[in-house]
Amino acid sequence: MTKQRVLSGMRPTGKLHLGNYLGALKNWKEMQENYECFFFVADWHALTTEYASSPDIRAYIHEMLIDWLAVGIDPDKATIFVQSMVPDHAVLHVLLSMITPLPWLERCPTYKEQQQQLTEKDLTTFGFLGYPVLQAADILIYKAHKVPVGIDQVPHLELTREIGRRFNHLYGEVFPEPQAILTEVPKLPGTDGRKMSKSYDNCIYLSDSEDVIRNKVRNMMTDPQRKKRQDPGDPEVSPVFAYHKIFTGKEDVERIAHGCRTAGIGCVDCKKILIDNMILMLAPIHETRAALARDKKQIRDVVESGTESARKIASGTMAQVREAMKI
Ligand code: TRP
Repeated sequence: MTKQRVLSGMRPTGKLHLGNYLGALKNWKEMQENYECFFFVADWHALTTEYASSPDIRAYIHEMLIDWLAVGIDPDKATIFVQSMVPDHAVLHVLLSMITPLPWLERCPTYKEQQQQLTEKDLTTFGFLGYPVLQAADILIYKAHKVPVGIDQVPHLELTREIGRRFNHLYGEVFPEPQAILTEVPKLPGTDGRKMSKSYDNCIYLSDSEDVIRNKVRNMMTDPQRKKRQDPGDPEVSPVFAYHKIFTGKEDVERIAHGCRTAGIGCVDCKKILIDNMILMLAPIHETRAALARDKKQIRDVVESGTESARKIASGTMAQVREAMKI
């Protein structure tokens, strides 16, 4: 039986945090066992919003690849590559842009929302409007069946299906309909209790050293009602407890919850346990990260061989596309 094909991409907009890991990467890691997986760094997509801030995208790509490999995305199981190294994505983007009605793009909720939210950036560009067309090209060029993404990406998947359908209708059946696989929202808040996000400055990064983790956890918000050590607290409102649920064994989690409610354990001790458990669980990731950071060639080799496989499949699809369009 041939495996179904899975594809997903991530924009290289900075180092990955625990929320990215629990939200997306953990899922990717599981999928690589049962599907033919393609995971790529969407560097062109990063440019749609970052074109003027000129971050060091190359460095971000490199860091992102280190993070992927460190958490266990396995180049022997998944094809790992960088979008801009497979220029056929851009060729398909141009061709799909010919058949995509402008109102489909203008109606896209992410288009309006991001323009309203990122007011410091000028997002009235052609490239930003075409973001979902490029994403459709990314997906359709590999004829992916399943696309693991966050809920915010669902409109882009819907557009991808519509563009694919329109292509098939106009030129003949080439593209299968891809399906979004919703990644569970990670139940891990930022250190201040809000959603973990770079823009809130409340993240714990996969690359954070033990000392940095220690400091961040020590300063983490707890139950604001629990002002004194002898006050009982409510573990469910404390982000520290949300972390315990992920990093601490079940029995200890129950003991800690009980201790919090009865003032049997103080926040300082509760955090100490968390710090130890986090450091223990993140140690293998840190070790692999450090080894990969020393060995630039390994990343280069992974990307080169992943890119080569990706290019072959992309160029196969493009031959069919050109045939269908008679160009
Ligand atoms: N737009 C996606 C995001 O911001 C990244 C992305 C680009 C992607 N191309 C893709 C995701 C293709 C899945 C498939 O998260």
